[in-house]
Amino acid sequence: MNTPTLEARIDLSAVSHNIGVLRTHTSAQVLAVVKADGYGHGAVEVGRAALAAGAAELGVTTIDEALILRRAGITAPVLAWLHGSSADFASAINADVQLGISSTRELDAVVAAARTAGRTASVTVKVDTGLARNGVHITEWDDTRDALAKAVAEQVITLHGAMSHLARGDEPEHPLNDLQAERLDEAVADLARVGAPVTVRHIANSAATLARPDLARDLVRPGIAIYGRSPIPAMGDFGLIPVMTLMAEVLSVKNIPAGQGVSYGHTWVAPRDTTVALLPAGYADGVPRLLSNRLSVQIDGNRYPNVGRVCMDQLVVDLGENLAEVKAGDRAVLFGTGAGGGPTALEWAEAVGTIDYEIVSGIRGRAVRTYTSVPKSGEVL
Ligand SMILES: Cc1ncc(COP(=O)(O)O)c(C=O)c1O
Repeated sequence: MNTPTLEARIDLSAVSHNIGVLRTHTSAQVLAVVKADGYGHGAVEVGRAALAAGAAELGVTTIDEALILRRAGITAPVLAWLHGSSADFASAINADVQLGISSTRELDAVVAAARTAGRTASVTVKVDTGLARNGVHITEWDDTRDALAKAVAEQVITLHGAMSHLARGDEPEHPLNDLQAERLDEAVADLARVGAPVTVRHIANSAATLARPDLARDLVRPGIAIYGRSPIPAMGDFGLIPVMTLMAEVLSVKNIPAGQGVSYGHTWVAPRDTTVALLPAGYADGVPRLLSNRLSVQIDGNRYPNVGRVCMDQLVVDLGENLAEVKAGDRAVLFGTGAGGGPTALEWAEAVGTIDYEIVSGIRGRAVRTYTSVPKSGEVL
């Protein structure tokens, strides 16, 4: 394959490394979160690499996402935990996808689908212990608990797990983390009391896995750390390796005179005669327009600032006197591992006041994903 002009290179050996880092922090099993197409890295490829590196299960939000994994031939346990009223529970049950349920209404729909399919549904109850997002709210708990016990007794579901999600996991010492874990434990005890014991309990995201190992129960449920991004940048990188490198071909190099404005609105005007390079990456590819005049790229080890507005498809960088003789066809790193002083997605995130989750999961448009170090079946990288 020709090298794409805009390439999101995904290093699967870094996924393997990052799973290894997570596993040094916990003896719990790892459920690798590959929702949102693997945070923009490719759910199937990352999922396979994570499983090859020892993850026990995969997690996604929707049934559609889970079915994509199944269609790709992934047979490992897959959990999907966010459903709309038209969710296709029957297809999920037939494909052996575990269903996270967040209400009695959802449980009823799963039970009905299981009866129709003539199969037992594997269910994980999602308990809202303080995030106030999805999950069974405390006001509905007794009702859902009893409905779970009834469905278990009737053997229409197996209650595999109980899960919850932290509101402030990236503040490891915040007391809410302990309170949420306690509430999950109480819910699990309550289920056991009514004859519906769970097999696995999980609440820890990446931040808690790395910084609050005491919160891990039977499984941990990391996402961002698998992609090599620190869940708590103030605590450093935890030895994680960023998985995605965004690269673009230099399309052209040209000299412009002092006083020449660059790109829409001429928000940057050359203060001297200079040389500029054109890169085929813009906001339609996930480069935030707010980064205009605020990002810099690396070409052959040197950093060059973006000048002028980031457009839909293109951006321009200032090469100055172009002492390094950058030329059309060279490759620019927009962000990557940060090795050799290169730019990172975290720099982008901090410049525009967001988190690097949003940067990497937002890479799209003309960016073509390529994969390195693809594991062979059963191989640990
Ligand atoms: C329910 C659930 N579990 C786990 C995760 C993974 O979180 P993180 O990427 O912070 O590790 C997410 C992500 O938002 C989530 O929604």
